[in-house]
Amino acid sequence: MLVSPSLLSADFANLKPDLEMIDRSEADYLHLDVMDGVFVPNISFGFPVMQAVAKNCRKPLDVHLMIVEPDKWISQVRDLGAEFMNVHQEACPHLHSVVQRIHRAGMKAGVTINPATPVSMLQDIIEDVELVLIMSVNPGFGGQPFIEHSVKKVAELRRLIDSTGSKALIEVDGGVNAETGARLAAAGADMLVAGSYVFGAPDPEKAILSLKNL
Ligand code: DX5
Ligand code: ZN
Repeated sequence: MLVSPSLLSADFANLKPDLEMIDRSEADYLHLDVMDGVFVPNISFGFPVMQAVAKNCRKPLDVHLMIVEPDKWISQVRDLGAEFMNVHQEACPHLHSVVQRIHRAGMKAGVTINPATPVSMLQDIIEDVELVLIMSVNPGFGGQPFIEHSVKKVAELRRLIDSTGSKALIEVDGGVNAETGARLAAAGADMLVAGSYVFGAPDPEKAILSLKNL
């Protein structure tokens, strides 16, 4: 299983030790949650913070933009050196064009869907993206309970991907722990995001490893 710990639950007053822990760990990526107070009812951090984080972490970046008009920020995300740029389907009326522009900037494109957005909305974009991120909580806050319906959505997305020429990875974000993670793995998930499960654990590296081994 690919693991992408979310910085949202790290200690914002002292990020360096948390970034060193992620570098030492078996994590595959670092997940960065950007919120604008418009698309979601919260504001997290922006580019100055992410630039400092990018300089102090060796893991590839998985940037999750919970913002309106995410296409305005493609070059800034590229300048961070991000591997994945995830935009919300609900925030992009011209999603196909945004995906093309992310590719032209040299990044892999991820499309994210909220809990109430059906997997079928992805039918006409699935062959063009490298990743689909299924939100298993309503975006905006860490530490929320896992929405059960997400397991069925992962299985449905797995079928959609396998029935097309798509190579998209399935990533899941929200309420992920070893128990929900195991069920998501069985349903076909490739990559798990975890914030509070990792940073709230007595041994965060061990928590990352428990997801890695799923
Ligand atoms: C929520 C963010 C998540 C968040 C997950 O809007 O997209 O990445 O950090 O937090 P947990 O793992 O605590 O549910
Ligand atoms: Zn996220």
